[in-house]
Amino acid sequence: MSENTKMYVKPNGSIHVIGTVDFIDAEGLVIRTETNFKLCRCGHSKNQPFCDHSHREHGFQGLGLS
Ligand code: FES
Repeated sequence: MSENTKMYVKPNGSIHVIGTVDFIDAEGLVIRTETNFKLCRCGHSKNQPFCDHSHREHGFQGLGLS
C-alpha cells in the first residue's frame, strides 16, 4: 500500500512535494515523473515549474496558504 503524496506550502517560498507525481501533457501522455521536488509559486524561477530559490532574491511573500 502506497502513502499519499503530500504538498507542503513553505511560508514565502515553494511548494515541497513529498511523493511521486506524473506530469501529464495536453494529450494525456506522461512527460515526466518526479519524486520529492519543490514547485515554484512565485513565478521567478528560471527552471519552471520547479523552484530554483529565486523567490529569496525577489522577496516573495505568499498569500493565503501560508
Ligand atoms: S518559489 Fe522558489 S523560485 Fe519561485
